[in-house]
Amino acid sequence: MTIRLGVIGLGVVGAETLQTLKNHSNVIEERSGQKVEIIEVSARDKSRDRGFDVQKYLWRDDPIELATSQNIDVVVELVGGEDGVALEVAEAALKAGKHLVTANKAMIARHGARLAAIAESMNVTLAFEAAVAGGIPALKALKEGLAGNRINRVSGILNGTCNYIVTEMSETGRSFDDVLKEAQAKGYAEADPAFDIDGVDAAQKLSILAAIAFGGTPNFDSVDTSGVRYVTDLDIKFAKELGYQIRLIGVAERTKDGVMQRVSACMTPKAHPLARIDGVTNAVLIEGSPVGQSLLVGPGAGGGATASAVLGDIVDIASGRGARGFGEAASSLKELSVAPVSVRTGSFYIRVMVIDRPGVIAEMAAIFGKNGVSIESFLQHGRQPDEAVPVVMTTHDTNESTIRNVVEQLGALATVAETPILMRIESL
Ligand SMILES: NC(=O)c1ccc[n+]([C@@H]2O[C@H](COP(=O)([O-])OP(=O)(O)OC[C@H]3O[C@@H](n4cnc5c(N)ncnc54)[C@H](OP(=O)(O)O)[C@@H]3O)[C@@H](O)[C@H]2O)c1
Repeated sequence: MTIRLGVIGLGVVGAETLQTLKNHSNVIEERSGQKVEIIEVSARDKSRDRGFDVQKYLWRDDPIELATSQNIDVVVELVGGEDGVALEVAEAALKAGKHLVTANKAMIARHGARLAAIAESMNVTLAFEAAVAGGIPALKALKEGLAGNRINRVSGILNGTCNYIVTEMSETGRSFDDVLKEAQAKGYAEADPAFDIDGVDAAQKLSILAAIAFGGTPNFDSVDTSGVRYVTDLDIKFAKELGYQIRLIGVAERTKDGVMQRVSACMTPKAHPLARIDGVTNAVLIEGSPVGQSLLVGPGAGGGATASAVLGDIVDIASGRGARGFGEAASSLKELSVAPVSVRTGSFYIRVMVIDRPGVIAEMAAIFGKNGVSIESFLQHGRQPDEAVPVVMTTHDTNESTIRNVVEQLGALATVAETPILMRIESL
């Protein structure tokens, strides 16, 4: 038998998927137990040079015609975007009884539960391994290899662009803007990098991991999200001095109040496995019982890594192993109760630019004392009378809403020159 594919979207991931399917056709056929063939393709511009001959396939100008075509068993959506064409294609394909493979984290984070329900009602597979951490089979690990565990926490470095930026800043001492420009020149960051550097991309992936880990529907809106845009070379230097690395880390964990999800640039102890992940590499740390900690590391993006995950899903479907997208019946996925980060307890890094005058430190210490926050360490280097100098404090464990109040009160002092910087210390 032959499994007939239709691929919509022939950009970075689509082109690589076609190419790899051709180059590895023997392996894929052996593992699938049948032939896997691309029959139809669709993209916006038929005349665009894609490095392969599109004439070999039936070209569809209208992607919905492909999604519902009688000639196709599996639709591979590689267009992207939360709504629009991608969502129309996904709904049309599933409703027409086609299996759907997608790399689209934005769509799955927002509409995944509904699409899974349609897939289940039509008895077809919705597969989206490529949507999270590209070349790392993190979703499969949760759904299959670790299926017998109660998962307590999933955390990770889920955005290669951000990790490249903070690694380079740390290794070279260069500024955020300088490294971002280089990342754009190397193709690691988009021309409009907001989705990556503001943490949105990582939050979409985290919400998908959390849904699978905790048996719920993805709740992207409840991820407390910030990015690396405000990381300065000064904070990178202080991080080193204090024994930390700054990393953009996503954490989803069970708490007594519900599932808490957060993405932020934070201080991570240098010895922590996630602090040692450099450059564009991604990592997913799964913690559960009885397994303990399981760390998966690999390439998180790029055509090859993403095509690897897309092809894994295709082989699963072709070999009859097409699993449920979220690891359990769509009808059993619950809306998970949400624990806001305001109830979290942890330690923090605070940097304040203060005008160097007598009495300033006592004023700051009084604010900490009044709010019941205990300071663990205090750093000030050199003196510049009447000039703004950085003062850094780390705290013992304290409540997150309390520390936000402290920072607001510090920022309101006449001797504080800039909005203070607050970062979580994620010891995990
Ligand atoms: N790139 C990565 O490293 C990576 C990693 C993980 C996941 N992903 C996900 O993979 C998906 C694809 O990403 P990509 O980087 O390959 O994007 P891309 O290079 O921008 O390619 C998008 C493709 O979609 C086609 N397209 C756009 N609008 C269309 C429409 N209205 N009808 C038909 N085709 C349309 C484009 O056609 P034309 O070529 O004719 O313009 C292009 O071939 C996204 O969901 C993305 O989030 C990407």
